[in-house]
Amino acid sequence: MSKDTNRLMGHADEADGIEEYDNPLPDWWLGLFWLCILWAIGYGVHYHFIGNRSQEAEFQAEMAAAAIRWPVQGAEDVVFAMTDEAIQGGEGVYTTYCFVCHGTQLEGGIGQSFLDEVWLHGSAPEDVIRTITEGVPEKGMAPWGSILSAEQINQAAAYVLAKNAEALGIPLEEITQGSGEPEGSEGAHEEGSGEEAGEASGEHSEGGDPGTI
Ligand code: HEC
Repeated sequence: MSKDTNRLMGHADEADGIEEYDNPLPDWWLGLFWLCILWAIGYGVHYHFIGNRSQEAEFQAEMAAAAIRWPVQGAEDVVFAMTDEAIQGGEGVYTTYCFVCHGTQLEGGIGQSFLDEVWLHGSAPEDVIRTITEGVPEKGMAPWGSILSAEQINQAAAYVLAKNAEALGIPLEEITQGSGEPEGSEGAHEEGSGEEAGEASGEHSEGGDPGTI
């Protein structure tokens, strides 16, 4: 197919004598152009209607996958165990996540000090576990249940309580008693054995401890 490539547009009068050719686009270029348009229509139809994909659906799917991959801990998923391993593990959790607000020596800062007898949200293990899990978002304390595992939450609670007992000169056993069921909750626990902690927190949810304000 031959094309006329020498037709002038007749712009010379308006454009200081500069002329312009009216050259048609090359066939290969036009072909690609139409192909792109056809492909875009096909892709759009497939994306929205056949594949039924959308950013929102992808977001929901990713969130659902994340909820399975990183389950949100409830306070009832955490079994309190005041063991040496838990306290040691808790030091790691504390120095990673908590020290920025509660101080490297637990002396407090943005968050509470853990070296005195003042507890705004209760000093019984189940209270502390609940505070850590659910946080106090309006005061800047994050709900760690969505960030830490049940085991890590127990470790953090054990560490904070052990350090508190040490600072106040209280024997550790007294704290362990606060949970109501110290035995049967030793060692590192994975999720899945939450009934004990649930019971314990039910029994002692309010005013069970002299330190509770
Ligand atoms: C961004 C700052 C911040 C971080 C990080 C933080 N906290 Fe807190 N935390 C606070 C604040 C602020 C409060 C006080 C809430 C209030 O005034 O009611 C608090 C309160 C607490 C309490 C309750 C104290 C009481 O008096 O009853 C506990 C327990 C606690 N945090 C544990 C932790 C643990 C464990 C971590 C790490 C996993 C942690 N916090 C990380 C800011 C933080």
